[in-house]
Amino acid sequence: MNKVPSFDEILKKHPEIDHIEVRPQDNRRAVKSFVLRGQKLGSHQLEALDCLFDKYCLTYSAGRMDFARIFGNDNPVVIEIGFGMGESTLQIAQQHPRINYIGFEVFLFGFSKVLYKIGNSGLENIRIMRFDAKQAIADLVDDDSVSGFHIFFPDPWPKKKHHGRRLIQPPFIELLQSKLKKGGYIYAATDWEDYAQQMLDVLSHCEGMHNPYDGFADPIGWRPETGFERKGLDKNYSIRELWFENQANRR
Ligand SMILES: C[S@@+](CC[C@H](N)C(=O)[O-])C[C@H]1O[C@@H](n2cnc3c(N)ncnc32)[C@H](O)[C@@H]1O
Repeated sequence: MNKVPSFDEILKKHPEIDHIEVRPQDNRRAVKSFVLRGQKLGSHQLEALDCLFDKYCLTYSAGRMDFARIFGNDNPVVIEIGFGMGESTLQIAQQHPRINYIGFEVFLFGFSKVLYKIGNSGLENIRIMRFDAKQAIADLVDDDSVSGFHIFFPDPWPKKKHHGRRLIQPPFIELLQSKLKKGGYIYAATDWEDYAQQMLDVLSHCEGMHNPYDGFADPIGWRPETGFERKGLDKNYSIRELWFENQANRR
């Protein structure tokens, strides 16, 4: 049996694994929506990073995303931000083979686990990227090109002094809207009451985003339960879902 490479050996081969943000010199203190947690990787995760990175992972240095080249077809593309351990990501990709999925996650433990599962599943309609989704979407994704964004249980950052770290804020939603095709959607879910309200306010005030529901959305039947959602349900938290569609015409 081959020896499992160490993480340092893998990094020599794929240095991009550890390149998760681009930070201009004058912006070292920019507020981030994540903190990096370290967790020891198991042998499956290390092997996946070693052998599957080139096949399924996107990198910042590859430049603008040409979806047709990445997937070898013109199917619609849906982007997920912060897939965590990715159980629902994989199920959704399995259930919708004619949709291509790109998932962003900075948490290496989850990222490498999902990479291992993608390799085992044989799925061809999913790619993942270990990078700050805010930066990657701004820099690498063409305007008017994405069919949907999934943001399931983004970090709630409950303390008021950390609210600036929350992902769903007007500039980020405006960025996502600029990347959406007409008719494309933003689908978000949370179990954190005041964040749910913030999401509803931000999305409702984004010009050109239409809410087909009266307030929060009805539960969307095809979304599998996520790992983070399960923890909230165990504590009897209520789940709120939001579904908004882009109606803006671009010039
Ligand atoms: C609370 S977890 C939820 C994970 C998963 N969606 C679920 O429901 O189980 C939020 C995840 O978003 C990731 N995340 C936060 N900000 C991010 C960013 N800017 N780019 C990529 N991932 C991010 C975090 O690393 C974290 O794993």
